[in-house]
Amino acid sequence: MEVIIQPSQDAANVVAARIIEDLVRRKPAAVLGLATGGTPVGLYKELIRLHRENGLDFSRVTTFNLDEYVGISPEHPASYHRFMRENLFDHVNIPAANINIPDGNAPDIPRFCAYYEEQIRRAGGIDLQVLGIGHDGHIGFNESTSSLASRTRIKTLTTETIEANQRFFAPGEPVPYHVVTMGVGTIMESHTCLMLAFGAGKAHAVEAMVEGPIMAMCPASVLQMHRQTIVVMDEPAASRLKKAAYYRHIYENKPDYQKLCPFPLV
Ligand code: GLP
Repeated sequence: MEVIIQPSQDAANVVAARIIEDLVRRKPAAVLGLATGGTPVGLYKELIRLHRENGLDFSRVTTFNLDEYVGISPEHPASYHRFMRENLFDHVNIPAANINIPDGNAPDIPRFCAYYEEQIRRAGGIDLQVLGIGHDGHIGFNESTSSLASRTRIKTLTTETIEANQRFFAPGEPVPYHVVTMGVGTIMESHTCLMLAFGAGKAHAVEAMVEGPIMAMCPASVLQMHRQTIVVMDEPAASRLKKAAYYRHIYENKPDYQKLCPFPLV
């Protein structure tokens, strides 16, 4: 796992966007895994800027989103379909036919989940998966105790996650407790994982993920077994890391080309 600590969220977003830009310029038909939540909003803003001002072309890119609520309309203000349109898809040139988001209204959810996995395989797998992290170390909607080998499936949210996500819903409106999410095993098959983590509220989760034991109580910790995970964070999110000085030293002394994706794409 590569830890990149930046002085601010803006600086972290520029680093993360540059990694995606480099991938898309090298592989125009790249397959991107995308995340929702507050964390990736600034990254998407930076990608939109690169598209508008630097001609970053997404016309051959395919995307797969991590997760979606069960039982709310794609038009609902808190739906991840709507989030993605508002924060990225309406502002860049990814063809609608190349966009994949779990269908939380599928009549047969297990069947839909198998289909989603098949679509990822048919696309050739995910080149780069964007991730955020929950306060308890969840990724996608893979709550604590999720199987570290899990695939796309229906999950039940914890009370903590429901409370954390209440802010995206109207006051008093119930947050669905069922969701469809890519599994931890699905995420682990991505060629590269690019995680963002911001703020002191994520410091414990980041510490557990980077320096703690691998365990289902912190699903993100399994990324220690992933061949290429890059975690870009701000100072408050890094505040509990014991080896922070070492991670800073590594990044500051890298040649520029290694600051992007060091492993070639297959
Ligand atoms: C939700 C999402 C995750 C996200 C997490 C953290 O549970 N399903 O993908 O990483 O929340 O959200 P935020 O970025 O808003 O802190």
